[in-house]
Order: sequence, then structure tokens, then C-alpha cells
Amino acid sequence: MGMIFDSHAHYDDARFDECRDEILGQMQKNNVCGIINCGTDIDTSLFAISLAKKYDFVYAAVGYHPESVDNGTCFDERQMLKLIKENKVVAIGEIGLDYYWDTTFKENQIEMFERQLQFAAAHSLPVIIHDREAHADTLQLIKKHKPKGVLHCFSGSVEMAKEVVGLGLYIGVGGVVTFKNSKKIVEVIKEIPLERILLETDAPYLAPEPFRGKLNRSDYIEFVAKKIAEIKNVDYEQVLLQTTENTKKLFNI
Ligand code: NI
Repeated sequence: MGMIFDSHAHYDDARFDECRDEILGQMQKNNVCGIINCGTDIDTSLFAISLAKKYDFVYAAVGYHPESVDNGTCFDERQMLKLIKENKVVAIGEIGLDYYWDTTFKENQIEMFERQLQFAAAHSLPVIIHDREAHADTLQLIKKHKPKGVLHCFSGSVEMAKEVVGLGLYIGVGGVVTFKNSKKIVEVIKEIPLERILLETDAPYLAPEPFRGKLNRSDYIEFVAKKIAEIKNVDYEQVLLQTTENTKKLFNI
């Protein structure tokens, strides 16, 4: 039977403080076989590592999110070297570019993104990329550095998805696909093979319908997988089997 692998979550988030262990304790009986908890700075990366130590099925990604750059944070290579030596650290992430709120720190974000792409390459680790309203620059830097990895919560066009897949990367799909107004990602899913899709929550954010607006959790991926099965006209089970295989392959799990 197919099981859910959540390739992108933030259980370190304060919104889980009251219910973190309760929720994570329910995951395995709710058909979740794996979760990658992504850091957004050094502290949350350390938290991700502590969750990976506590739960067999949790893995950690470590890195600096573009928004963490806005307060002047710099890449600390010594610290990052320590983090990637920990068990169950499977990726550098989440890293990338975010021009949604403002572009004041664009240059700093690009510099931090490139530092981390180089760091990931030097240590043969895949990357988890965040791209919000920064498609052109993200694509350009992917072409330049040729990482192994995933574009999480993909929001680009079909053309961009095809290019990304052509470069050997994966497309991360989460709750947005279940939203009524989401046409773009539906078209993307139609056009790219299931072999290139990873499932994700981005919990606590982006809960799928019928839980939109609520606290997201990895077992809700069921609704994302069902929507993908419907779009691609394949079995729900097949969606779970294939996407879990994809995730394990990319992150060497
Ligand atoms: Ni995220």
C-alpha cells in the first residue's frame, strides 16, 4: 500500500508548540512514512535536527530561507558544516528567493542563495528551493549551478516547469492544488510526469481543502494526492507509491 511522504514541513513553528508531539505521534498510524522538516535559519535547522533525532520518520533540511536574510544574517559556513554532519540531514533547505513582500534585499538574497547552492554542490546534497515571485532569477541560478533538488510549492508556468524538469529537478506540490482558483498548478501537473512530482505540506501553512485556513499537517496530504490522481487520471495508490519513491530517491533515504 502506498504511504505519504511529506517532503516539506515546518513542525518547528510556534503554532505547533501546543500540539507538536500529539500530531507527530499520530502520523504513522495515519499512513505517513516520512517527513522532511526544513530549517529557515540556524535555530530552526537545529530544531529540525532535534525532531529527526526524536522521530524515526522525520528527516532534516538545514539552511537559510530568503526571508532570514532580510535582517542582515550572513552565511555561517562553520555552523553549516557542523549541521550537515548530523545524522538524517538530507538536504540544504529551504533556500531561494522571495520578492513577494519587498525586493529591498534582492541582492543579499541572491548572494545567500548562490552561497548555499555552492555549499550543497560541494557536499553533494540536494536542495529545497523556495521561489516566490522570483521565477526568472530562480531559473537563471538553477541553470548556472545545476543543483539536484526540488522547487517547493511550485507556482511557475507550464513552460518553467518543463524547463525545471528538463534540468533534472522535481516539482513540489501541496495544498494549493486543491484550492478552487488554482489553475496554473493543475496545468503543470497535467504536463509533467508523476516521476517528477513530490508531495508536501509546508505545514503549518497551506492546508488543503477541506481544511483550508486551518493548521496544516502531513496526513492532510491525502487530499493533495487525491487531487493529483484526479488530474492525471491515475490511481490514488499509484500517486503515493510514485511520489514517495521520488522523495526517497532525491534525498537518498
Ligand atoms: Ni517552507
